[in-house]
Amino acid sequence: MNNKPTAIVIGGGQTLGAFLSKGLADAGYRVAVADLNGDNAERVAAEINAAHGAGSAAGFAADATNEAAVDELAAAVDRTFGRSDLLLYSAGVAKASPIWDFPLKDFQRSLDVNLTGYFLCARAFARLMIRDGIHGRIIEINSKSGKVGSKYNAGYSAAKFGAVGLTQSLALDLADKGITVNALMLGNLLKSPMFQSLIPEYAKKLGIPEDQVEQTYIDKVPLKRGCDYQDVLNVLLFYASDKASYCTGQSINITGGQVMF
Ligand SMILES: NC(=O)c1ccc[n+]([C@@H]2O[C@H](COP(=O)([O-])OP(=O)(O)OC[C@H]3O[C@@H](n4cnc5c(N)ncnc54)[C@H](O)[C@@H]3O)[C@@H](O)[C@H]2O)c1
Repeated sequence: MNNKPTAIVIGGGQTLGAFLSKGLADAGYRVAVADLNGDNAERVAAEINAAHGAGSAAGFAADATNEAAVDELAAAVDRTFGRSDLLLYSAGVAKASPIWDFPLKDFQRSLDVNLTGYFLCARAFARLMIRDGIHGRIIEINSKSGKVGSKYNAGYSAAKFGAVGLTQSLALDLADKGITVNALMLGNLLKSPMFQSLIPEYAKKLGIPEDQVEQTYIDKVPLKRGCDYQDVLNVLLFYASDKASYCTGQSINITGGQVMF
């Protein structure tokens, strides 16, 4: 049986999650690509299989906010790969509005996807790691909005702050099982659909034209550029590796110096 380590990427169907799925495959993992959009998950898995050979990846349709669906996902990944070494939780949603116009359903959706889904997936895959005695890794994709409030982004920022507390608590729960839990706090991925979708609200809050928003965000960064998907992969591979075995419960900034605590 193929005994290569297996990474599960939640929200792996597009953008950052798709890039990290492929990067993990390049680094020697078999990859379970899971996404609400099952077609996208299967497309990313097919691209990995084309590059690395059949059996290197599989795509799964799953709603990370649904308890039964997450437990079924874990069972399906277990049947397919037989082991779970790294859970990467990358699913996220951001809907921007000033608080006086913020719909409750958008706030709750943000908590569901950015926080509750992380809890459900961490629980399901930690159970598999514990069952098999695997000294695994759980890594959450967070944001600088998980450390600093974000104007017109109350739901997103509240959920990402919550995920920092969840990361620290999971790290304590799982320390004596040899499983580490860390969060990566990203700067803005300027070309991503998520950032691009927020530009109209950001233009409003800054009182500038939409075509000046990207440059304004670059100007806030000491290293004077947006966060690249490769920046995230570089740090992810370190925290996934044995070299990071003494690090747990951390919220690691990848912000070009924009956040320093
Ligand atoms: N884009 C940015 O500027 C930025 C900045 C900082 C942090 N982040 C974080 O990076 C992560 C990835 O962001 P992105 O820009 O790639 O976003 P994206 O919207 O392009 O991708 C998110 C993926 O998550 C999936 N998803 C959403 N809800 C889901 C659910 N309930 N169950 C399973 N999958 C679900 C979507 O289908 C999509 O494929 C998110 O956690 C986001 O908060 C993004």
